[in-house]
Amino acid sequence: MGARSVLVTGASSGIGEATMHELVRLGFHVWATVRRAQDADRLSEQHGERITVLRCDVTDAEQVANVGEQVRRRGGLHGLVNNAGTAIPAPLEFIPLDEFRRQLDINLTGQLAVTQAVLPSLREARGRVVNVGSIGDRIAGPMLGAYHASKFGLVGLTDTLRAELAPAGIAVVLVEPGAIATPIWTTGAASGERLLADLPREALSHYAAQIDRTRKDAARAAKRGLPPSAVAVVIAKALTVKNPRPRYLVGRDAQIASVVARLPYRLRYRLTAARQ
Ligand SMILES: NC(=O)c1ccc[n+]([C@@H]2O[C@H](COP(=O)([O-])OP(=O)(O)OC[C@H]3O[C@@H](n4cnc5c(N)ncnc54)[C@H](OP(=O)(O)O)[C@@H]3O)[C@@H](O)[C@H]2O)c1
Repeated sequence: MGARSVLVTGASSGIGEATMHELVRLGFHVWATVRRAQDADRLSEQHGERITVLRCDVTDAEQVANVGEQVRRRGGLHGLVNNAGTAIPAPLEFIPLDEFRRQLDINLTGQLAVTQAVLPSLREARGRVVNVGSIGDRIAGPMLGAYHASKFGLVGLTDTLRAELAPAGIAVVLVEPGAIATPIWTTGAASGERLLADLPREALSHYAAQIDRTRKDAARAAKRGLPPSAVAVVIAKALTVKNPRPRYLVGRDAQIASVVARLPYRLRYRLTAARQ
């Protein structure tokens, strides 16, 4: 395989799929991970030998190890895009702890698992790591506590990896998008409705207004968010420029929120509905 190669997790839809298309367009060979057989078939049909599709749930140790093994057999890896992720909305007071753990497992531990699995190949090529964070890793609001915990955690994980891998010449970058129009808003809403159906009645009365606002925000983001290609272009830039920045914000809303995140705490929390 002559082309430089990049692994993209969660390539079946949204930002991951757009990133895969963009990297193929730029001439990379893409290792694309997906969970379902039908997505594997669809992507293979679209791109033929320019991509290699691997089945991987990032919470499945065996599947992650297999990804590391397959990539290692083909030599160095020039980039890893830790993109796979999901959103599980529910009030922290009532979210079942198994669901909270699942959120962290997918969005945080899963990113580390894949990184560990392919690091030998990244070292070989002095490759780069791009972690897909969120503006929700700087500012937290109600109902998405599990998601925020995972993304705030990803900031710490990314910063430590950046420090640990600098001596090896491996740059580690955090891309932080604002609202992007992808299926995450509908799948997230579906998870939320499923959880709400099982919550005690008092949960609904305590949190009715916040739940309603979260539903409306999600519907708006699904409609008015930037296209996933806007993030794909930034990820490709982070992988290809000579000196990548440590962090890239994507979208005007993310830029504005990053300013709010730097305000004095009282003001900042008043604006983000966490009053004290
Ligand atoms: N959309 C936004 O507004 C936004 C904003 C900021 C950050 N982000 C971040 O961007 C990343 C991609 O999200 P997206 O918006 O593109 O959502 P998406 O279209 O729903 O894509 C999520 C991808 O992650 C995969 N995935 C979910 N759980 C997985 C697991 N356990 N193991 C492996 N893959 C898994 C999905 O696979 P399946 O198709 O099999 O479910 C899908 O390929 C996430 O990390 C998200 O937090 C999104």
